[in-house]
Amino acid sequence: MQRLQKVIAHAGIASRRKAEDYITQGRVKVNGEVVRELGVQVNQKDQIEVDQVPIYQEEPVYYMFYKPRGVISAASDDKNRTVVTDYFTETSERVYPVGRLDYNTSGLLLVTNDGDFSQKLMHPKHEVDKVYVAKVDGVASNKKLMPLTKRMTIEGKKVAPAQFAILSTDTKKQTSIVQLTIHEGRNHQVKNMLKACGFPVEKLKRERYGHLALGNLRPGEYRSLHKNEVNRLLEETKV
Ligand code: URA
Repeated sequence: MQRLQKVIAHAGIASRRKAEDYITQGRVKVNGEVVRELGVQVNQKDQIEVDQVPIYQEEPVYYMFYKPRGVISAASDDKNRTVVTDYFTETSERVYPVGRLDYNTSGLLLVTNDGDFSQKLMHPKHEVDKVYVAKVDGVASNKKLMPLTKRMTIEGKKVAPAQFAILSTDTKKQTSIVQLTIHEGRNHQVKNMLKACGFPVEKLKRERYGHLALGNLRPGEYRSLHKNEVNRLLEETKV
């Protein structure tokens, strides 16, 4: 079930604000009846009309996408750079990414047209674990990375403790590969946390999102999520 104004907004007819105006002005019908109250819940089967024009409710779709580096996590870009949805040319639904990965970060990104699903996953209170692998400058040690496991202050804000593992170090090249698990989704969070420990990130990839891993996907590829994967992700938000 979704709120009526949200369904109208999602169909691209109007912004959510405008959709609310349409409802209170009596321009919206649900199953042939004018609805003037805000907050009415509708489902996929309800017939919705705005000014006598039926609106088409899309079936919700869910994908796992392997975002390559050099792609914007959005459905459009004012500078005409490649965006995530450029890879979804065979998808008729109006999909968009759940949250974002930086332009130069690669890895697992969920893509959907289900606003509720997206909001649940991104809600700061119950964001699911995400696992990143970073190539950093410098030879990492447990001692130097220990602050990651405490509540660090990043750009004036406390971030939740993270778990880390040093996967390898290269003393000749003075680089390390570090795995970091976080559940928040602040901008540049992984890069900022590692930088604060003295390890600027050279390359970053998100390998897992909740229980999901990239598996056999290659950069630029995507696959539909199974129903049980979607349900399990939603379960993970309730922890
Ligand atoms: N943290 C970052 O620094 N960048 C990302 O793209 C994702 C998490």
